[in-house]
Amino acid sequence: MRLRGKVALLTAAAGAGIGQATARAMAREGASVVLTDMHEERAKMVADEISREYNIKTIGLKCDVTDRVEVARAAETVLDVFGRIDILFNNAGTNRPARVVDITNEVWDLVLATTLTGTFYCCRAVIPAMMRQNFGRIISVTSVAGFRGLAGGHAHYAAAKAGVMAFTRCLAMEVAPHRITANTIAPSFIFNEFIPHIYPQDEIERMFEEIPYPRKGTPDDVANAALFLASDEGEYMTGQTLCVTGGSWMR
Ligand SMILES: NC(=O)c1ccc[n+]([C@@H]2O[C@H](COP(=O)([O-])OP(=O)(O)OC[C@H]3O[C@@H](n4cnc5c(N)ncnc54)[C@H](O)[C@@H]3O)[C@@H](O)[C@H]2O)c1
Repeated sequence: MRLRGKVALLTAAAGAGIGQATARAMAREGASVVLTDMHEERAKMVADEISREYNIKTIGLKCDVTDRVEVARAAETVLDVFGRIDILFNNAGTNRPARVVDITNEVWDLVLATTLTGTFYCCRAVIPAMMRQNFGRIISVTSVAGFRGLAGGHAHYAAAKAGVMAFTRCLAMEVAPHRITANTIAPSFIFNEFIPHIYPQDEIERMFEEIPYPRKGTPDDVANAALFLASDEGEYMTGQTLCVTGGSWMR
Protein backbone atom coordinates (compact mmCIF):
# COMPACT_ATOMS: atom_id res chain seq x y z
CA MET A 1 0.00 0.00 0.00
CA ARG A 2 2.74 2.42 -1.00
CA LEU A 3 0.26 5.04 -2.26
CA ARG A 4 -2.34 4.83 0.48
CA GLY A 5 -4.31 8.10 0.75
CA LYS A 6 -2.94 9.51 -2.49
CA VAL A 7 -5.07 10.76 -5.40
CA ALA A 8 -3.80 9.99 -8.89
CA LEU A 9 -4.99 11.54 -12.15
CA LEU A 10 -4.04 9.53 -15.23
CA THR A 11 -4.49 10.42 -18.90
CA ALA A 12 -5.16 7.91 -21.70
CA ALA A 13 -5.93 5.31 -19.06
CA ALA A 14 -8.69 3.30 -20.73
CA GLY A 15 -6.64 1.59 -23.43
CA ALA A 16 -4.97 -1.81 -23.52
CA GLY A 17 -1.53 -0.58 -22.55
CA ILE A 18 0.54 1.43 -20.09
CA GLY A 19 -2.17 3.84 -18.92
CA GLN A 20 -4.61 1.25 -17.67
CA ALA A 21 -1.84 -0.96 -16.24
CA THR A 22 -0.53 2.02 -14.24
CA ALA A 23 -4.01 2.93 -13.00
CA ARG A 24 -4.42 -0.65 -11.75
CA ALA A 25 -0.98 -0.68 -10.13
CA MET A 26 -1.65 2.62 -8.34
CA ALA A 27 -5.06 1.40 -7.16
CA ARG A 28 -3.48 -1.81 -5.89
CA GLU A 29 -1.08 0.33 -3.87
CA GLY A 30 -3.97 2.18 -2.23
CA ALA A 31 -4.37 5.33 -4.37
CA SER A 32 -7.72 6.73 -5.42
CA VAL A 33 -7.45 6.81 -9.19
CA VAL A 34 -9.09 9.10 -11.72
CA LEU A 35 -8.99 7.52 -15.14
CA THR A 36 -9.32 9.92 -18.02
CA ASP A 37 -9.35 9.08 -21.70
CA MET A 38 -10.71 10.54 -24.93
CA HIS A 39 -13.15 7.58 -24.91
CA GLU A 40 -15.61 8.43 -22.17
CA GLU A 41 -17.45 5.10 -21.99
CA ARG A 42 -14.28 3.05 -21.73
CA ALA A 43 -12.88 5.40 -19.08
CA LYS A 44 -16.00 4.94 -16.96
CA MET A 45 -16.09 1.19 -17.55
CA VAL A 46 -12.45 0.64 -16.55
CA ALA A 47 -12.85 2.96 -13.55
CA ASP A 48 -15.83 0.89 -12.37
CA GLU A 49 -13.89 -2.36 -12.84
CA ILE A 50 -10.94 -1.05 -10.82
CA SER A 51 -13.23 0.30 -8.11
CA ARG A 52 -14.85 -3.12 -7.68
CA GLU A 53 -11.58 -5.02 -7.88
CA TYR A 54 -9.67 -2.95 -5.31
CA ASN A 55 -12.58 -1.63 -3.27
CA ILE A 56 -11.52 1.99 -3.70
CA LYS A 57 -13.12 5.16 -5.01
CA THR A 58 -12.42 5.86 -8.68
CA ILE A 59 -13.78 8.17 -11.35
CA GLY A 60 -13.80 7.75 -15.11
CA LEU A 61 -13.85 10.98 -17.11
CA LYS A 62 -13.71 12.03 -20.72
CA CYS A 63 -10.62 14.11 -21.30
CA ASP A 64 -9.00 14.64 -24.66
CA VAL A 65 -5.63 16.09 -23.66
CA THR A 66 -5.53 18.25 -26.79
CA ASP A 67 -8.56 20.14 -25.46
CA ARG A 68 -7.41 22.56 -22.77
CA VAL A 69 -10.97 23.15 -21.56
CA GLU A 70 -11.52 19.43 -20.97
CA VAL A 71 -8.15 19.18 -19.21
CA ALA A 72 -8.97 22.08 -16.88
CA ARG A 73 -12.42 20.60 -16.20
CA ALA A 74 -10.94 17.19 -15.36
CA ALA A 75 -8.57 18.75 -12.82
CA GLU A 76 -11.45 20.73 -11.27
CA THR A 77 -13.56 17.59 -11.00
CA VAL A 78 -10.77 15.73 -9.20
CA LEU A 79 -10.40 18.62 -6.75
CA ASP A 80 -14.19 18.81 -6.20
CA VAL A 81 -14.44 15.08 -5.49
CA PHE A 82 -11.18 14.32 -3.68
CA GLY A 83 -9.91 17.76 -2.58
CA ARG A 84 -6.37 17.11 -3.83
CA ILE A 85 -4.23 15.79 -6.71
CA ASP A 86 -1.05 14.05 -5.60
CA ILE A 87 0.03 12.27 -8.76
CA LEU A 88 -0.31 13.20 -12.42
CA PHE A 89 0.48 10.41 -14.86
CA ASN A 90 0.77 11.89 -18.35
CA ASN A 91 0.33 8.85 -20.53
CA ALA A 92 -1.36 10.29 -23.62
CA GLY A 93 0.79 10.23 -26.72
CA THR A 94 0.17 9.22 -30.27
CA ASN A 95 2.16 8.12 -33.27
CA ARG A 96 1.22 8.04 -36.95
CA PRO A 97 4.38 6.65 -38.58
CA ALA A 98 5.25 8.41 -41.84
CA ARG A 99 8.38 9.59 -43.60
CA VAL A 100 9.03 13.31 -43.13
CA VAL A 101 8.15 14.09 -46.72
CA ASP A 102 4.79 12.37 -46.23
CA ILE A 103 3.81 13.91 -42.89
CA THR A 104 0.77 16.09 -43.48
CA ASN A 105 0.18 19.26 -41.48
CA GLU A 106 -2.75 17.53 -39.78
CA VAL A 107 -0.68 14.52 -38.71
CA TRP A 108 2.17 16.72 -37.46
CA ASP A 109 -0.30 18.82 -35.45
CA LEU A 110 -2.07 15.75 -34.01
CA VAL A 111 1.14 14.05 -32.85
CA LEU A 112 2.53 17.24 -31.30
CA ALA A 113 -0.79 18.30 -29.76
CA THR A 114 -1.41 14.93 -28.12
CA THR A 115 2.11 14.11 -27.04
CA LEU A 116 3.68 17.45 -26.14
CA THR A 117 1.01 20.14 -25.80
CA GLY A 118 -1.34 17.77 -23.94
CA THR A 119 1.39 17.09 -21.39
CA PHE A 120 1.82 20.84 -20.89
CA TYR A 121 -1.95 21.40 -20.49
CA CYS A 122 -2.18 18.65 -17.85
CA CYS A 123 0.84 19.88 -15.87
CA ARG A 124 -0.45 23.45 -15.93
CA ALA A 125 -3.86 22.32 -14.70
CA VAL A 126 -2.61 20.41 -11.64
CA ILE A 127 0.42 22.39 -10.47
CA PRO A 128 -1.50 25.08 -8.51
CA ALA A 129 -3.17 22.38 -6.38
CA MET A 130 0.15 20.56 -5.90
CA MET A 131 1.77 23.83 -4.80
CA ARG A 132 -0.99 24.42 -2.23
CA GLN A 133 -0.45 20.89 -0.94
CA ASN A 134 3.33 21.32 -0.97
CA PHE A 135 3.41 17.87 -2.56
CA GLY A 136 3.16 16.43 -6.03
CA ARG A 137 4.50 13.76 -8.35
CA ILE A 138 4.36 14.35 -12.10
CA ILE A 139 5.30 11.40 -14.28
CA SER A 140 5.16 11.58 -18.07
CA VAL A 141 5.60 8.71 -20.46
CA THR A 142 8.05 9.50 -23.22
CA SER A 143 10.00 7.03 -25.38
CA VAL A 144 13.52 6.05 -26.31
CA ALA A 145 12.55 7.57 -29.66
CA GLY A 146 13.24 10.90 -27.95
CA PHE A 147 16.94 9.96 -27.65
CA ARG A 148 17.84 7.96 -30.69
CA GLY A 149 17.49 7.92 -34.44
CA LEU A 150 14.82 5.49 -35.59
CA ALA A 151 13.93 4.29 -39.05
CA GLY A 152 10.27 3.74 -39.86
CA GLY A 153 8.83 7.25 -39.89
CA HIS A 154 9.00 8.43 -36.28
CA ALA A 155 10.46 11.95 -36.67
CA HIS A 156 7.36 13.84 -35.45
CA TYR A 157 6.79 11.41 -32.56
CA ALA A 158 10.48 11.49 -31.58
CA ALA A 159 10.49 15.30 -31.63
CA ALA A 160 7.40 15.41 -29.41
CA LYS A 161 8.81 12.89 -26.90
CA ALA A 162 12.17 14.70 -26.76
CA GLY A 163 10.15 17.86 -26.17
CA VAL A 164 8.39 16.28 -23.18
CA MET A 165 11.76 15.31 -21.67
CA ALA A 166 13.17 18.85 -22.12
CA PHE A 167 9.94 20.38 -20.78
CA THR A 168 10.08 18.10 -17.75
CA ARG A 169 13.65 19.06 -16.82
CA CYS A 170 12.75 22.76 -16.76
CA LEU A 171 9.47 22.06 -14.96
CA ALA A 172 11.34 20.03 -12.34
CA MET A 173 13.54 23.07 -11.56
CA GLU A 174 10.49 25.32 -11.21
CA VAL A 175 8.42 23.14 -8.93
CA ALA A 176 11.11 21.50 -6.76
CA PRO A 177 10.85 24.16 -4.01
CA HIS A 178 7.23 23.03 -3.53
CA ARG A 179 8.27 19.40 -3.01
CA ILE A 180 6.86 18.52 -6.42
CA THR A 181 8.91 16.15 -8.55
CA ALA A 182 8.66 15.79 -12.33
CA ASN A 183 10.17 12.84 -14.15
CA THR A 184 9.69 10.88 -17.34
CA ILE A 185 9.74 7.20 -18.18
CA ALA A 186 11.12 6.26 -21.57
CA PRO A 187 10.07 2.76 -22.64
CA SER A 188 11.24 0.98 -25.72
CA PHE A 189 8.79 -1.40 -27.33
CA ILE A 190 5.96 -2.42 -24.99
CA PHE A 191 3.47 -4.75 -26.59
CA ASN A 192 -0.29 -4.55 -26.19
CA GLU A 193 -3.11 -5.94 -28.33
CA PHE A 194 -3.68 -2.59 -30.07
CA ILE A 195 -0.08 -2.26 -31.34
CA PRO A 196 -0.70 -4.23 -34.59
CA HIS A 197 -3.20 -1.50 -35.57
CA ILE A 198 -0.41 1.09 -35.45
CA TYR A 199 2.74 -0.68 -36.67
CA PRO A 200 3.28 -3.14 -39.54
CA GLN A 201 4.22 -6.71 -38.50
CA ASP A 202 7.81 -6.49 -39.81
CA GLU A 203 8.36 -3.31 -37.76
CA ILE A 204 7.00 -5.08 -34.65
CA GLU A 205 9.36 -7.99 -35.17
CA ARG A 206 12.32 -5.66 -35.75
CA MET A 207 11.56 -3.84 -32.49
CA PHE A 208 11.42 -7.14 -30.54
CA GLU A 209 14.72 -8.28 -32.03
CA GLU A 210 16.48 -5.23 -30.56
CA ILE A 211 15.72 -6.32 -26.97
CA PRO A 212 18.56 -8.34 -25.35
CA TYR A 213 16.55 -9.30 -22.26
CA PRO A 214 14.82 -12.62 -23.01
CA ARG A 215 11.22 -11.51 -22.79
CA LYS A 216 8.92 -8.84 -24.16
CA GLY A 217 8.32 -5.63 -22.22
CA THR A 218 4.83 -5.33 -20.77
CA PRO A 219 2.72 -2.37 -19.63
CA ASP A 220 3.30 -3.61 -16.04
CA ASP A 221 7.05 -3.03 -16.43
CA VAL A 222 6.36 0.65 -17.03
CA ALA A 223 3.72 0.76 -14.28
CA ASN A 224 6.32 -0.54 -11.81
CA ALA A 225 8.70 2.30 -12.70
CA ALA A 226 5.82 4.75 -12.23
CA LEU A 227 5.06 3.30 -8.81
CA PHE A 228 8.63 3.92 -7.74
CA LEU A 229 8.55 7.54 -8.91
CA ALA A 230 5.17 8.13 -7.26
CA SER A 231 6.09 6.50 -3.95
CA ASP A 232 8.07 7.82 -0.98
CA GLU A 233 11.10 5.91 -2.27
CA GLY A 234 11.20 8.17 -5.33
CA GLU A 235 11.10 11.43 -3.39
CA TYR A 236 14.61 12.72 -4.14
CA MET A 237 14.58 11.95 -7.83
CA THR A 238 13.46 14.75 -10.14
CA GLY A 239 14.09 15.96 -13.67
CA GLN A 240 15.16 12.44 -14.67
CA THR A 241 14.22 9.87 -17.28
CA LEU A 242 13.92 6.21 -16.31
CA CYS A 243 14.49 4.00 -19.35
CA VAL A 244 12.45 0.78 -19.31
CA THR A 245 13.88 -1.06 -22.27
CA GLY A 246 15.09 -4.58 -21.46
CA GLY A 247 18.50 -3.26 -22.49
CA SER A 248 17.51 -2.26 -26.01
CA TRP A 249 18.55 1.30 -25.22
CA MET A 250 21.23 2.24 -22.70
CA ARG A 251 22.15 5.83 -21.94
N1 LIG B 1 3.60 0.77 -26.47
C1 LIG B 1 4.85 1.09 -26.71
O1 LIG B 1 5.63 0.34 -27.30
C2 LIG B 1 5.36 2.43 -26.27
C3 LIG B 1 6.74 2.66 -26.31
C4 LIG B 1 7.23 3.90 -25.90
C5 LIG B 1 6.36 4.86 -25.45
N2 LIG B 1 5.02 4.61 -25.44
C6 LIG B 1 4.14 5.67 -24.97
O2 LIG B 1 3.39 5.15 -23.89
C7 LIG B 1 2.12 5.79 -23.82
C8 LIG B 1 1.04 4.72 -23.76
O3 LIG B 1 1.06 3.93 -24.93
P1 LIG B 1 0.44 2.47 -24.98
O4 LIG B 1 0.83 1.93 -26.32
O5 LIG B 1 0.83 1.70 -23.79
O6 LIG B 1 -1.15 2.69 -25.03
P2 LIG B 1 -2.24 3.02 -23.87
O7 LIG B 1 -3.25 1.95 -23.89
O8 LIG B 1 -1.58 3.30 -22.57
O9 LIG B 1 -2.88 4.37 -24.45
C9 LIG B 1 -3.87 4.32 -25.46
C10 LIG B 1 -5.03 5.19 -25.02
O10 LIG B 1 -4.72 6.54 -25.35
C11 LIG B 1 -5.92 7.21 -25.56
N3 LIG B 1 -5.69 8.49 -26.21
C12 LIG B 1 -5.16 8.70 -27.44
N4 LIG B 1 -5.15 10.01 -27.72
C13 LIG B 1 -5.67 10.65 -26.64
C14 LIG B 1 -5.94 12.00 -26.33
N5 LIG B 1 -5.70 12.99 -27.21
N6 LIG B 1 -6.47 12.30 -25.12
C15 LIG B 1 -6.76 11.31 -24.24
N7 LIG B 1 -6.55 10.00 -24.48
C16 LIG B 1 -6.01 9.68 -25.68
C17 LIG B 1 -6.72 6.23 -26.41
O11 LIG B 1 -8.10 6.50 -26.36
C18 LIG B 1 -6.35 4.89 -25.74
O12 LIG B 1 -7.35 4.53 -24.78
C19 LIG B 1 2.07 6.71 -25.03
O13 LIG B 1 2.45 8.01 -24.64
C20 LIG B 1 3.10 6.12 -25.96
O14 LIG B 1 3.63 7.07 -26.86
C21 LIG B 1 4.50 3.42 -25.83
